[in-house]
Amino acid sequence: MVKRIVLAYSGGLDTSVLIKWLQQKYDAEVITVTLDVGQKEDLKAIEEKAYKLGVLRHYSIDAKDEFAREYVFPAIKANALYEGKYPVSTALSRPLIASKLAEVAEKENADAVAHGCTGKGNDQVRIEVSVKALNPNLKVIAPIREWNLTRDAEIEFAKKHGIPIPVDRGKPYSVDQNLWGRSIECGVLEYPEKEPPEDAFEWTVPPEKAPDKPEYLSIEFECGVPVALNGRSMEPVELIESLNNIAGKHGVGRIDHIEDRLVGIKSREVYECPAATVLIEAHKDLEKIVLTRHEVLFKQHIDAEWAYLVYAGLWMDPLKEDLDAFINKTQERVSGEVRVKLFKGNAQVVGRSSPNSLYDIHLATYNIDTTFDQSSSAGFIELWGLPTRVARALKRARKD
Ligand code: ARG
Repeated sequence: MVKRIVLAYSGGLDTSVLIKWLQQKYDAEVITVTLDVGQKEDLKAIEEKAYKLGVLRHYSIDAKDEFAREYVFPAIKANALYEGKYPVSTALSRPLIASKLAEVAEKENADAVAHGCTGKGNDQVRIEVSVKALNPNLKVIAPIREWNLTRDAEIEFAKKHGIPIPVDRGKPYSVDQNLWGRSIECGVLEYPEKEPPEDAFEWTVPPEKAPDKPEYLSIEFECGVPVALNGRSMEPVELIESLNNIAGKHGVGRIDHIEDRLVGIKSREVYECPAATVLIEAHKDLEKIVLTRHEVLFKQHIDAEWAYLVYAGLWMDPLKEDLDAFINKTQERVSGEVRVKLFKGNAQVVGRSSPNSLYDIHLATYNIDTTFDQSSSAGFIELWGLPTRVARALKRARKD
């Protein structure tokens, strides 16, 4: 018997309907939890709405700083881009939401947690895997998945139960946002051959309408994470929010790609991730000047695996921690300054420096006063090409 349920509450129509539905179906007490992960919503209004719908208690949790330090920063260190493009912004917030749900459930002696994810997406997997990993005794209820409500039926239910229906702003999109990015789905975006319409975007201007003059940024990193912008030290949340604003004004961070969802579906996804785009580009570049070739190339595999695990809802898996151990070790030297030029939708690294730089101008220069002994290259080529020469010789011999 489920008597007390902790619901992940966004304040939107779906989860508002869920409050009533859970109360009725289970005759249970509902406790709502809303996290502020930088989605820029009025948490006070969400809380009031929850109480109006008769919840026993509501938790508003400001998780911005924790999200930035414990979730976004590791993603920067890992240059996390799922399938080479998506900065896993939504994915990163899910294990944090799951942790808070489990925490509140334990504190409140609840027997179940509930969420408003559909049965087609990744978020159900991320939240449920994480909640179950943290507390296997908690039951997880996914009413939207079980219930299979159409939009019309949902609005009917809402009207009947006095649930405020958000005024339709004429935007048929499903949006999820936090500090690290904004995801936009549904409507015309489901036709991958069509360019996303302008009304899908809120954080970025179209590149063609961006300022005609470039803007230069200097980003300072310490041990793999950004600590200052244009010479001013900033706390993580402030730094990320500032970058979202500055880069967004230059049309930087629009992402349009075909994504492989966990449940096997290909989908067309549109994102706005200005800060993530700039920071990952800058961080990758800085790594290239401080890590050895062997580290740079090996780390690309680790980074891709890290992004995949996070996308796939496996934040809590030991493998993620194992990869973090490797990544953190490499980041000990990733300190320095990166200069980025923002212009018409592009963020281009145009300069980098580090006290741990492995770049040696005396080795690299094509000038005469170099310390590199060119004569040793002849022997190197001899041995480097040996296996290839042997194999080619055999191939030739077999053909004759
Ligand atoms: N495809 C993205 C992911 O799986 C975003 C999903 C949530 N987006 C949304 N608009 N509800 O991480």
